Amino acid sequence: MAHRWTNDLTHDDVTPKSAYLNRRQVMAGMAGLGLAALAPKARAAADLTPTDFDVITQYNNFYEFGTGKDDPAKHAHRLTTKPWSIKIDGMVDRPGDYALEDILSQMTIEERIYRFRCVEAWSMVVPWNGFELKDLLDLAGVQSSAKYVAFETLYRPKEMIGQNSPFLDWPYVEGLRLDEANHPLTLMATGIYGKDMPKQNGAPIRLVVPWKYGFKSIKSIVRITLTDKEPPTSWNKSIPGEYGFYSNVNPEVDHPRWSQASERPIGGGFFAKRIPTLMFNGYEQEVASLYEGMDLRKNY
Ligand code: MTE
Repeated sequence: MAHRWTNDLTHDDVTPKSAYLNRRQVMAGMAGLGLAALAPKARAAADLTPTDFDVITQYNNFYEFGTGKDDPAKHAHRLTTKPWSIKIDGMVDRPGDYALEDILSQMTIEERIYRFRCVEAWSMVVPWNGFELKDLLDLAGVQSSAKYVAFETLYRPKEMIGQNSPFLDWPYVEGLRLDEANHPLTLMATGIYGKDMPKQNGAPIRLVVPWKYGFKSIKSIVRITLTDKEPPTSWNKSIPGEYGFYSNVNPEVDHPRWSQASERPIGGGFFAKRIPTLMFNGYEQEVASLYEGMDLRKNY
């Protein structure tokens, strides 16, 4: 279904085959390889070597557990993730509380190896497991009046100890335009490296939008609302002069306080070479048409 978008090497291509890969995932890997051979790349394929599991799970932004990069790994164990459900409401035919196990029983989990670029100018390569957001939206039946999708993270200050400080206006919220949400690259991720999603990475289920800065990829989602109005987003509410709604990775539009032209791959050591940042984080071919006619400098 979506394998055509996996124009990256998969985990399987760069590491020995692991037992967890099912047949469909292996096929995804082969499709990915085929496309990768055809697609010219600005950066070498080596930059799609997955970042180590330990790095992905110990250097995090999850402000519900504190503001330090190591706080989520220290504190996220408090989070209860079972039972878990997602309320899907707004402009849908079948609104309701969808139990996560019921959702998962209707989805096929694939592996997607994506570049992940934080607005703070660091990056990783993450082998996610998940399913396309579009498949979940189809379950709920999106009505034709809907134009945007709003997302909300759990609010549970007893477990998410960072929510006891007013660092952000909790709960964390994010949003996408409906066509962005329906794009085959847009993933609801339930794991990394074939393991259940670690709590610090947004257990049990989070969004991954690989062509946008990492803060759009909202974690531990409990509510999805279809709406006809552009939804508020946490970082735009907090610092509107620095963060907009779109937040597409763009090496030509600097953050007001730093350059976005290059990035620091995490895990390569302190002296690791910075690498050039790619337009739309390397997914320009797939997503540029979503923004035709828009001023990408203004719609940051
Ligand atoms: N989602 C929630 N609920 N809370 C957060 O603080 N941080 C965002 C995003 N999703 C965040 C969130 C930011 S700034 C980034 S860069 C990524 O999660 C980090 O994801 P990672 O820790 O899995 O690398």
